Amino acid sequence: MPERLATEPRIRVDVLLDDADRRSGLLDETFWSLREQPKQISPLWLYDEHGSRLFDRITRLPEYYLTRSERGILRAHAAEIAAAAGADTLVELGSGTSEKTRLLLDALRKEGTLALFAPLDVSREVLLSSAEAVAAHYPGIGVHAVVGNFERHLNSVPAGSPRLLAFLGSTIGNLVPERRERFLGEVAETLEPDDRFLLGIDLVKSPDRIEAAYNDSEGLTETFIRNALTALNRELGSRFDQAAFAFEARWDAAHEWVDIGLRSLRQQTIALPLLEVDVSFAEGEFLRIEVSSKFRRAGIEAELTSAGLRLERWWTDAAGDFALVLARRVR
Ligand code: SAH
Ligand code: TRP
Repeated sequence: MPERLATEPRIRVDVLLDDADRRSGLLDETFWSLREQPKQISPLWLYDEHGSRLFDRITRLPEYYLTRSERGILRAHAAEIAAAAGADTLVELGSGTSEKTRLLLDALRKEGTLALFAPLDVSREVLLSSAEAVAAHYPGIGVHAVVGNFERHLNSVPAGSPRLLAFLGSTIGNLVPERRERFLGEVAETLEPDDRFLLGIDLVKSPDRIEAAYNDSEGLTETFIRNALTALNRELGSRFDQAAFAFEARWDAAHEWVDIGLRSLRQQTIALPLLEVDVSFAEGEFLRIEVSSKFRRAGIEAELTSAGLRLERWWTDAAGDFALVLARRVR
């Protein structure tokens, strides 16, 4: 570290999490999360290379309004965001394909301030290929990709002055409130006084539309979720039987999140040889793989405030489906 992995000389790649770390971290976390109530496995199981490709297809589903709404807001307001941020460095957490991010890169380039793009993601293949694509498309800027976990490696993202730290796609909604609180606290600590934080959040709306986004008619979301179990079987040497679990994504009105996972169709005990334990499921017991929280302005504003961040700007699409928030550290 830094390690050379890319062919393009303007790309630097830091690997803070190699395959062995990722795997041992996941095994350890899985040991504990299968003891929680409800049983859970880490959403990181979703994002192996195959899973990342599936997610990219989800973003184009007719039912999955999130990506289109967020792109619309970026189209309308990227220039204002760039002017407010005046950033020389765009850091993107959970960057994936960085497709929508190009609207920000274009606007920052027009603003004349952009020198570096620094995407961070756990999914190395997708990260590297999008880093290469961005480098090819923006010859004037450097690319510093970080293979890492945004819950652990915020302190290793490149410095800049000032930076715009973008966290799009409502990925923050995939953290339960306690983890969100910790994460936002770390964001506040990472930000310098002139840096900005740009956060994409999906808003509370009719449960029917929310549930439809995670129960698409092509069944792509189900394939994406089941891929986590396939990855787990591969890495843990376990034999979870897909046919013994039903996919479920249901709106939980009390928590205002979609609870996404697999429900056991029968009483069953599964051996996890690498963890040296067995795990038993009752008939009808739920295995959570991800939550997708939906937000209201007052709620997220309070969360930002208690983390030491101040909401400066708030933009939504015309339908009020999705919001982009611009925040900065409270001095
Ligand atoms: N930002 C993109 C992708 C969102 S999907 C968009 O808006 O469409 C979530 C992305 O975050 C995936 O690329 C996944 O690999 C990454 N990710 C999920 N958990 C992560 C973690 N803890 N650390 C780093 N990246 C993570
Ligand atoms: N951040 C995205 C969301 O909450 C992630 C996501 C999209 C997702 N589709 C999914 C997570 C399906 C689990 C299952 O919408």
